[in-house]
Amino acid sequence: MNTSEPFIGRHKTELDTPALLIDLDKMEANIETMANYFSTVNAELRPHVKTHKTPIIAHKQIAAGAIGVTCAKLGEAEAVIHAGIRDVLIANQIVGAQKIARLINLAKHSEIMVAADNSENVQAISEAATAKGATVRMLVEVNIGMNRCGVEPGKPALALAEQILRSPNLVFEGLMGYEGHTVAKPKRPERDAAAREAMQRLLDTKHYLEKQGVEVPIMSGGGTGTFNITGSIPEMTEIQAGSYVLMDSTYYNVEGIGKHFECALSVLATVVSRPNRNRMIVDTGLKVLAKEFGIPQPIGLTGMEMSGLSEEHGTLKTVGQVPDENISLKPGDTLEILPTHCCTTVNLHDRYYGIRNGIVESVWDITARGRAQ
Ligand SMILES: Cc1ncc(COP(=O)(O)O)c(C=O)c1O
Repeated sequence: MNTSEPFIGRHKTELDTPALLIDLDKMEANIETMANYFSTVNAELRPHVKTHKTPIIAHKQIAAGAIGVTCAKLGEAEAVIHAGIRDVLIANQIVGAQKIARLINLAKHSEIMVAADNSENVQAISEAATAKGATVRMLVEVNIGMNRCGVEPGKPALALAEQILRSPNLVFEGLMGYEGHTVAKPKRPERDAAAREAMQRLLDTKHYLEKQGVEVPIMSGGGTGTFNITGSIPEMTEIQAGSYVLMDSTYYNVEGIGKHFECALSVLATVVSRPNRNRMIVDTGLKVLAKEFGIPQPIGLTGMEMSGLSEEHGTLKTVGQVPDENISLKPGDTLEILPTHCCTTVNLHDRYYGIRNGIVESVWDITARGRAQ
């Protein structure tokens, strides 16, 4: 944490730009809303670190009731374990000798759990763990329709679970299935049906394993768009939602999600050029704003729309009726942009400025930013 930050106590518009802002009241409300929901169902929350990539936010989620965290990458897991978090799921395959060595190192200092979908990989992790006297907890990842990673439901999942059960220094903890192809379906009824259909494949696999005498203590899956669909299934034990904590305009517009969570993240921009009444250029381009889910838009700026991003510039154009105060925006003025994808936008920044009532309250390093390995 960068406590020597000179901007603390100053108004957010005094920050140098581009700057990544978190509205702390909104983030805290999101954490509380999600914690309240998980106090009413059987499943528990294991929030995904890939969204915020910052141990202090993970600690806040755990303080509110989360059982641990989910990570996508070893680099994220290292960041949170070094910051004192012990119960970590890497919801991903850890493949190759170098990465397995890092995994085993973490296993010696934490309760790390990892997903697997391949027999040779399971064998390699077991051998490395045995050589170092470590124990690795493992979930079998099942492909429940996203067609990304995962063994097929049923027999292939049983075979891998049995291999893990036989393998020295591995503990079979259960099943994971991520219904990523359903989480952003805009309409609630379609999302509900698609998520339940996907999760049924995981439930059927659990029942099949149990029939063969294999216990399945952990059932893990879920995202922000399905937190109260997958999260309401009594046999699910852990939900991996991540985006809810910061949110973005894409998730906000998914039916039924915007009413629960507020958009806490924004990027502060400075107007650098105003060539004419109809065009305005800001200093937030592709290097500080992700756009794979659409071009991010300014917050509360009637009559102006971001029409394009290049590396270092965002171009805004006038649309329809433009109020006088927007016509008079000029170089040096600031505005805030709402990201369309929080996770990939955060990964472009070194630090967050935590804002409360317009004032910079805290500065947090985004420790796992760029840790793609
Ligand atoms: C394995 C896994 N779990 C959970 C999530 C949920 O994330 P979100 O809350 O952003 O939908 C993701 C998103 O990429 C994921 O890949």
